[in-house]
Amino acid sequence: MASAIELGYRLIDTASSYGNEREVGLGVRDSAVARDQVAVSSKLRGDDQVAGARAGLERSLDDLGLSYLDNYLIHWPLPSLGRYLEVYGELMAAREEGLIRRLGVSNFLPEHLTALYDAYGEWPAINQIELHPYFPQQALLAWCQERGIEVQAWSPLGRKTDLLSNETVTTMALAHACTPAQLVLAWHLARGCAPIPKTDSTERAAENLAAGSIRLTGREVEALASLERGRIGGDPATHVEM
Ligand SMILES: NC(=O)c1ccc[n+]([C@@H]2O[C@H](COP(=O)([O-])OP(=O)(O)OC[C@H]3O[C@@H](n4cnc5c(N)ncnc54)[C@H](OP(=O)(O)O)[C@@H]3O)[C@@H](O)[C@H]2O)c1
Repeated sequence: MASAIELGYRLIDTASSYGNEREVGLGVRDSAVARDQVAVSSKLRGDDQVAGARAGLERSLDDLGLSYLDNYLIHWPLPSLGRYLEVYGELMAAREEGLIRRLGVSNFLPEHLTALYDAYGEWPAINQIELHPYFPQQALLAWCQERGIEVQAWSPLGRKTDLLSNETVTTMALAHACTPAQLVLAWHLARGCAPIPKTDSTERAAENLAAGSIRLTGREVEALASLERGRIGGDPATHVEM
């Protein structure tokens, strides 16, 4: 973690359900970069929607050893629980107190986002959703961007699919003299998304960061989106995460 920050990463993504907030917090606090130069995101897990959002947030802050989160997201809408509207209101109060800088959501569909807007008159700052060339979600991306909601891409490299050895990807990467992972990350940036790739390797972390200098044409962006196959993770309409 500290090495990623020293490489130049300025957004660190974790979640209560990942069980690694203590290690993430240590890395952020140990790095040579000042706390206010690094954005830390965490997420409220499903059982805390029932047990109490405020308590879930405070536990994350304690585990991270931080006094505030730059981004705090409701991890899944869990519509069958019917709790996310109330939870968002509780977190707005925590934002007022300075415990959260930007309040956002993850895996929310337009119907969930619209319900929030109707209840509170604001759009969440962020919607973090599954996005990669095998699941480009063009309509949801455009819908969020039209409303000023920042879209962050999870599983941006397609996790454990064959995306990075897909022939369209490898051919285009060769033409740009970059790696397949860099090409895919450049695709996210060209679409105005913030990809949050995961790697255990410092070399790959540096490789992924360097994708910021690669520019794709509109035609290349479309060609990658045409690789669509479907989602690899849960469906927000039905996903249960407790
Ligand atoms: N909000 C949500 O519901 C949600 C859900 C899932 C994930 N997430 C977030 O999204 C992040 C990333 O998602 P993810 O881990 O599912 O998928 P991912 O970032 O698309 O893929 C990770 C895989 O790609 C490999 N990789 C990374 N850089 C590479 C490179 N340059 N070349 C080749 N392979 C490379 C990694 O292997 P090595 O580690 O061996 O390099 C790992 O196996 C997670 O860490 C989490 O923060 C959020």
